[in-house]
Amino acid sequence: MADKRAQQRSKYTLDRGIPGAFEGETITRRRFMTGTAHGAGAVAAAAFTLPALGFAIGPVFKSTPHRWEVVGTVDEFPDNNYVPVVLTLVPDIGEAGKTTAYVRKFNPALDTDPYDKGTPYIAISDRCVHLGCPVRWVDASERFVCPCHGGVYDILGERVSGPPVRPLDRFYSRVTGEDVELGPRFSVNSKLRRFSPRLPGEPLDGIGQYLYPSTPGAKKL
Ligand code: FES
Repeated sequence: MADKRAQQRSKYTLDRGIPGAFEGETITRRRFMTGTAHGAGAVAAAAFTLPALGFAIGPVFKSTPHRWEVVGTVDEFPDNNYVPVVLTLVPDIGEAGKTTAYVRKFNPALDTDPYDKGTPYIAISDRCVHLGCPVRWVDASERFVCPCHGGVYDILGERVSGPPVRPLDRFYSRVTGEDVELGPRFSVNSKLRRFSPRLPGEPLDGIGQYLYPSTPGAKKL
């Protein structure tokens, strides 16, 4: 009885009475082939998935330096009308990395929101927050108008009508010497409270600010 148990625990396949076993063999050929096939399958799957995973989550770990870009001098921007300027969001990719911002000087009569206090210039992004079409500032009606689905925003970039889900995004601004510089983009909710950049279609009021956290892609688009 003890002998039988010892045979069952033996590492040799022959001792364990496995059909077709060879002398000195510790693993059956079937198990060996199955393990080899699974191993090869895992290597092949990793060859496809690891690079894709790297591309997907790599930007999370890559810190993007804050860029400040000169867009004009202090006397080029009035406080009651916008001047369009071109900004580089992603360098070295030509026109695809550029965007337009509408800039005016801070106006205490207009910019009464506490979040705007201390901002020297108001810089509104031209990217519609519905689906991303470029909006246009219409001087006569003092509105930003989106040509795609009729989104309309007021002079502060706040939604007036149409499908957009929040006010237009903005850029940080500062003055260095005589130059006006624009920095990173940020998103705002309907009270103009600032948030890190969000993608179009992502609301920031109420529970929206938690449902749609900022993503690395949102900073570049
Ligand atoms: S993209 Fe502007 S309203 Fe739809």
